[in-house]
Amino acid sequence: MCNTFYIEIYGCQMNVYDSKNIISVMERRGFERTLDPKIADILIFYTCNIRENAARKVFSAIGMMKSSKTKVIAIGGCVAQAEKEELFKKSKLINIVFGPHVYHKLPDYVRQILNGEQIKIIDIDLEKFSKFGKTLNQKNISFSEFITIQEGCDNFCSYCVVPYTRGREYSRAAKDIITDAKHLVAHGTKEITLIGQNVNSYDGEAPYISIGAGSNHWKLDRLLYEIAGIDGLKRLRYTTSHPKDITIELMRAHSQISRLVPFAHIPIQSGSDKILRLMNRGHTVTEYVAKLKMFKTIFPDMQFSSDFIVGFPNETFSDFEDTVRIADDVKYTISYAFKYSRRKGTPAAQMDGQIPESEKEKRLKILQDTLIRCQIDRNNSLIGQTQTILFDKHGKKPNQYIGKNVCMQSVIAESDTNLIGEFRSVLIESAGPNSVFGKVLYKDE
Ligand code: 5AD
Ligand code: SF4
Repeated sequence: MCNTFYIEIYGCQMNVYDSKNIISVMERRGFERTLDPKIADILIFYTCNIRENAARKVFSAIGMMKSSKTKVIAIGGCVAQAEKEELFKKSKLINIVFGPHVYHKLPDYVRQILNGEQIKIIDIDLEKFSKFGKTLNQKNISFSEFITIQEGCDNFCSYCVVPYTRGREYSRAAKDIITDAKHLVAHGTKEITLIGQNVNSYDGEAPYISIGAGSNHWKLDRLLYEIAGIDGLKRLRYTTSHPKDITIELMRAHSQISRLVPFAHIPIQSGSDKILRLMNRGHTVTEYVAKLKMFKTIFPDMQFSSDFIVGFPNETFSDFEDTVRIADDVKYTISYAFKYSRRKGTPAAQMDGQIPESEKEKRLKILQDTLIRCQIDRNNSLIGQTQTILFDKHGKKPNQYIGKNVCMQSVIAESDTNLIGEFRSVLIESAGPNSVFGKVLYKDE
């Protein structure tokens, strides 16, 4: 009988992508996935630690999920990379600690433990990228998929753990990304999101040498043209972007590629130049705003979303008010606000002027109120528009379905037929703070 595994995932799209690949490599090596941790032989936790002590979350999850059946417990992802062998000290139950770049070796490590080897295995190698190049098993392919095109980050924003947990920037060869994209579309994927910590700095080996083309590497815009051209693909996205790496060529690509959504997530983090400098973001507020303006000039349909951090060390109330102002002024479709979280090993964690938790809470609430107000205005402005929606889940009521428009806003509609995985034209009829409601008009091709 084959051994079963259960996987629990925390964190960003990069982790969702990685964990789908973990499922595929485990299945390929004869392990069977179960959705019930209590009957699994192997428990895998794949984690993120960008803003919180995910280690704590993992330990409580282990306690809840392990059973008399559990033979192997493996912790992977950024927490593994950050905490290393500390994890073994904190919980004797853990057998394997694996970093985000070595998950393809997990089946071998699991076998070693199942074969009775009384060892603790740790592999947190950041240099090797051999994990790529293994396409998803057909049954794990969905109508909407992520493809990692770039990983790691060289920006070293002073608050962020990513350069330490995901390592230095690495771009996959364009040929491999195209192969993955074609494989997905051939098996039913309609929407692809190209992902990376900093996709705009994508600089991957070109699939062929172009005589006289200068560089033998492709940037993001070139890759987008190629992927968008795959027959059968309906919608293309990418995330996340750093403002300083948005190029004119990328703006032009948006205006020319109809399958590419007129939308980009371009976080500003703070509306204060002083805080941006302390954050080591590499741009000022004016430069950021000018870039979005240029984007709109080249492609007027373009929409943006952002992340904000409040309560960064030395943020005065006046600095914070600058953030609220920018959140209000730039008409973002969606925004995400976070309290600054002091991450071990980052420069900001060592800074004087840390803001008390209660003050961070207060600022977060003020900013969130502003963001919700902006979102309500934006949602109301959609009433009367017809939008193309890709439905991805059931709503609360029977016959209710929830989907996303090009800007990742939630749209709710009713239908007697199953809409999951389907594109539909929807007339927006009413709006709430978090989603809009519409009527399905007809089937899109
Ligand atoms: N504290 C709070 N927010 C953070 N982010 C990254 N690191 C931290 C931190 N230490 C946020 C940033 C980033 C998003 C993915 O997470 O806003 O854009
Ligand atoms: Fe972290 Fe993004 Fe800054 Fe890179 S650009 S260090 S991933 S916040």
